[in-house]
Formats: sequence, C-alpha cells, structure tokens
Amino acid sequence: SVASAAPVLVREDIISDHPANNVTDNIFQRMGVNLHRRPDHPLGIIKSAIYDYFQQEHPGRFTHFDDLYPVVSVKANFDEVLVPEGHVSRNPNDTYYVDADTVLRCHTSAHQAEILRRGETAFLVTGDVYRRDTIDATHYPVFHQMEGVRVFSPDEVAAAGVSGSQLAEDDLKHTLEGLARHLFGDVEMRWVDAYFPFTDPSFELEIFFKGEWLEVLGCGVVQQQILDANGHRGNQGWAFGLGLERLAMVLFDIPDIRLFWTDDQRFLKQFKAGNLQARFKPFSKFPPCYKDVSFWTNEQFTENNLCELVRSVAGDLAEEVKLIDDFTNKKTGKTSNCFRIAYRSMERSLTDEEVNNIQSTVRRRLADDLKLELR
Ligand code: PHE
Repeated sequence: SVASAAPVLVREDIISDHPANNVTDNIFQRMGVNLHRRPDHPLGIIKSAIYDYFQQEHPGRFTHFDDLYPVVSVKANFDEVLVPEGHVSRNPNDTYYVDADTVLRCHTSAHQAEILRRGETAFLVTGDVYRRDTIDATHYPVFHQMEGVRVFSPDEVAAAGVSGSQLAEDDLKHTLEGLARHLFGDVEMRWVDAYFPFTDPSFELEIFFKGEWLEVLGCGVVQQQILDANGHRGNQGWAFGLGLERLAMVLFDIPDIRLFWTDDQRFLKQFKAGNLQARFKPFSKFPPCYKDVSFWTNEQFTENNLCELVRSVAGDLAEEVKLIDDFTNKKTGKTSNCFRIAYRSMERSLTDEEVNNIQSTVRRRLADDLKLELR
C-alpha cells in the first residue's frame, strides 16, 4: 500500500479574499480529519472491507491511496476527466473554489489522471470530497468516496477473446457485483444506464435493500481519451466511484449523516474494525426545533447559499432546510420564499434561548451577507 504524505493544511492557503474563494471556516474545520483513516469508524470499516474484497480477488494487485491532498487543480478535478466547460459541477454554487484554478476536490476521480501517469494499472483512492449542497439527513458538504480503476494490458485483452471495451465492461460488472455481495450479502441487484463524462458506457449499480432500490455506485468503461492522454495509449479499463457514507448508512442503519462527525462515544463505541455486522442502536432522539424564515429572493439567491450560511451559523445543529412556500407577486414580480429550518442535536436537548440566538443570527446574516429582504 502506498500513501503519499499530504502537506499540512494551512487556513491561509484555503480561505482567502480571492474573488473566487468560497470556502468557509465550517468546511476548513472538516479538512484533514480523515474519518476514513480511523479503523474503528464506520467509514474506516467500510474502506477496509472494500480493500479486503479486492485483496481476496486480486492479491497484491490494487495499490491503495488514502492520503492524497484534497486541494486540487481545476484541471485535475474537471479537465483531465473530460468534464465539459459549463457542466453544472463546475459552478461555484456546487463546488468550493480556493481560487479560479484550484478547488476542493468534488470527487475522487480528480486523481485518476495523475495516478495513471504514475504508471499504475490497478488502484483504489479513498478521500474526503467537498460539495456545496442543501441540508438534510443524507447530505453533508463533506463526504468520502472511493475510486477504483483497472487498466487491462493488450495481452489480457487478447487472452479474453473479446474487445478491450467488452472485457472492461464484463470485468467491471462481475467485480462490482462481487463487491456488493461482500458488503451486503445475498442481495438483488440491477444495472442502470447512466452518464458520466469520464466513462462510456456508464452504469449505476442498484441493490434491493429493505424494500427499496438504492443506488450504490457509479462506474463505466474509462474514456479512451483519458487512458491515451495519461500513458496508457490504446489500452482499455474500467473505473468506479462510490460514496462511503451512503454504503455505511445502508449497511449499519445510520439514520443521519451528521453522526459520522460526532465525538459521542454512544455512537463510536458501537463500531469496531472488521465488524460489518454492527447495526446502529439509536441512543436517544432529542426533539427538533423548527424555525421558519421568509424573505424576498434576489438574483443571486440559491438554496445552496442559504444552506451554507445556515451551516456556518448552526454547524451540525442544522438538520434540515426545506422550502415550504414559494410565490411570486404578479404585480411587483418579486418572489417570496419561506424555508423551515429544523435544528436538532444528536447529543443533547437544545434550549429555546440557544435556538433563538442561532435563528436571529441566521436572519441577520441573510440580510447582511445575502442581501435578502426579510419579511
Ligand atoms: N465521480 C463520479 C461521482 O462522483 C463517480 C464515478 C467514478 C463514476 C468513476 C464513474 C467512474 O459521482
């Protein structure tokens, strides 16, 4: 296993007054925590279980990377994996920019090209990834992904007796179905066609779990252009990317994504390295506190901006932000939104005073920072 030591994270390198910079302190505080490197943490347990599966199937073949620096170039995050100019994911409403040419990686695919250029033909990359998003039980602006890539040699393609692309697709599906069984046992699965700029064809794997079809990963046959441009001219291969929180929430019955970040031993002590059988037993459920806020929107307003602001003020006490009313005044053309914010701690009861203080700070900053006219 290879891990290149990441440089120390320095706040001034990540948060600056550069006009493109949209990283908040709340986000910076999550950087370098590396939950996926804690052996007894649910994310570390899932990561190790996936490592074990690949080790069992292909002893010694896959190189592991789990300590790559999360600050990457726009080139690595988007251009080198063929994300088109103007694709939504490049928008600063969706991605954290350090400056115009540098982002917090929004997927582990940001490392595909550089690792291919090192000459690797089989590797797994695990890391924290960053996306601006709305607030609910399954979305958090920092989460963890694992990327897998395998490139076949011309000899391997010849031995398979099918085209390189067909070999890659067959091996990909076989490998990932095996992985899903390794994690979830004997589950029903289905392949769904998908689109990713870096693979063609592209698929999503869904598993039938507790009465529902759940998407567990995205994958596909690596675009020839990516292999050609990065030292593997003419070879074919596959890639997949999966969200560790998603898998852990399903497997361990974890109801809220904020729990991954808690220091509460009542959560942490329920998980142990190597144990995929653990099922989370909720230790208590404290009451939520709902607060509504209404305002006239403006041109710059987006729900992601609102949620970023709420997280900056409330941190992990913000459980959900939901649009409950949206209307446009026919005469003035002005649009009014009402959002309901649910505040709840996973660890304790919140006091009225505490929630009122948070809510009034949110209101003030909506007016001051987002220039919204409160109603
Ligand atoms: N990068 C994709 C995502 O974040 C996942 C993916 C990786 C899909 C590799 C295909 C191949 O959604």
